[in-house]
Amino acid sequence: MGGSGVTETGKFTTPSLEDIRNWRPETRAVDAGLMIDPATGAIAPNLSTSVNNALLPGEGAFSADGVEDLADLPYLYARWTNPTVRQLEMRVAALENAEAALCSATGMAAIAGVFFTFLKAGDHLVVSDVCYAGATELAQRILPDYGLEVTPVNMSRLDEVEAAIRPNTRLIHCESPCNPILRLTDLKGVVALARLRGIKVSVDSTFATPVATRPVDLGVDLVIHSLTKFMNGHGDALGGAVAGSKADIARIRARAGVYLGATLSAQNAWLILRGIDTLYARMRMISDSAAKVSAFLEYHPAMERVIYPGLDSHPQKALADSQMDIPGGMIGFRVKGDRKAVAMALAKRLKVVHYAFSLGHQRSIVVLLDTEEMMASTFRLEGAALDDYRRFAGDGIFRLSIGLESPDDLIADFDQALCI
Ligand SMILES: Cc1ncc(COP(=O)(O)O)c(C=O)c1O
Repeated sequence: MGGSGVTETGKFTTPSLEDIRNWRPETRAVDAGLMIDPATGAIAPNLSTSVNNALLPGEGAFSADGVEDLADLPYLYARWTNPTVRQLEMRVAALENAEAALCSATGMAAIAGVFFTFLKAGDHLVVSDVCYAGATELAQRILPDYGLEVTPVNMSRLDEVEAAIRPNTRLIHCESPCNPILRLTDLKGVVALARLRGIKVSVDSTFATPVATRPVDLGVDLVIHSLTKFMNGHGDALGGAVAGSKADIARIRARAGVYLGATLSAQNAWLILRGIDTLYARMRMISDSAAKVSAFLEYHPAMERVIYPGLDSHPQKALADSQMDIPGGMIGFRVKGDRKAVAMALAKRLKVVHYAFSLGHQRSIVVLLDTEEMMASTFRLEGAALDDYRRFAGDGIFRLSIGLESPDDLIADFDQALCI
């Protein structure tokens, strides 16, 4: 059986790509990619832990340089592809309306996989000047060591994006909403600039999830996820993914997947498949709760500013309405007075919400990202770009990831913890 798994397996039929295309997203989240076990008929995804698979001589792929997607060849060795990981890849592709997807050990591995596949020495990358810290640091500090030119821009200003493009620009990388300030990127606008010039566009859609935004439908070439976050949703597995055209995903797998070696483990793929089963139900509940919590915080006397794509006060509310089906589970807030003292009080007093890094879990999580510290460690913005950052984050932004608790309990928890 080929790695695609879309085959008749004796008496059991696995859904074809055409079946999947006709399904609504909620159904895809549960059933896309599911391979019925031909031996037992099991309808839960099998956890296949084998590192290698039996072959006939001449079967399988021994050269990783071909354009054909290695995932379509018989299973050979789990660094290339694995049957459980393959089911997750098909599910992610279906949710993103993409032809194909590749899963990786972490979201960072997915980002690195895109950069190291589509960029080579002498090429130019235009990157959002605010995105996940790891992506920012990889782009701005490590890629130049490999002979790449990198220009950070405020992706919400299309004129800046256009001005940054050079004849050797090969990739524009953005996030929407971006971590940590929840500024949005007009994906159609960026795609329009890139298409004209044959430049690829990648977007890290971790904050949005496919429940809110399907970037491929807007013309984006490569959609990246940290599956560690909302996609898995339970805070118990690291994972990453890139979705895109079959040809692009084949290139990433042949280059970065095989040679960078950041393969997703079958165990984590299995957990993430299980998490994605409930993606739609979770994200709708989380987004509804986030709307209630953000509305409460916005009028709380301790607050200076609340940033949430569902609030009328978000500076890009019109774009949020047109590009996001739901505003999602991430809220940013700034407090009046001593932000570090408030952070300490929240860490000590919150009983339902956890003061911690990461996001997108079933439990609500909050953390302060101090502007001065973020500038020194990561973003290094100056002048107008720093002013733009501060318009969202001020001296420091609390990043709040809403979980599955009752919104009333979250509100009560913040209310008691903010009485300083
Ligand atoms: C938007 C975004 N992209 C990528 C990553 C990296 O993901 P991972 O930790 O799975 O490598 C993160 C992690 O916080 C993130 O928030």
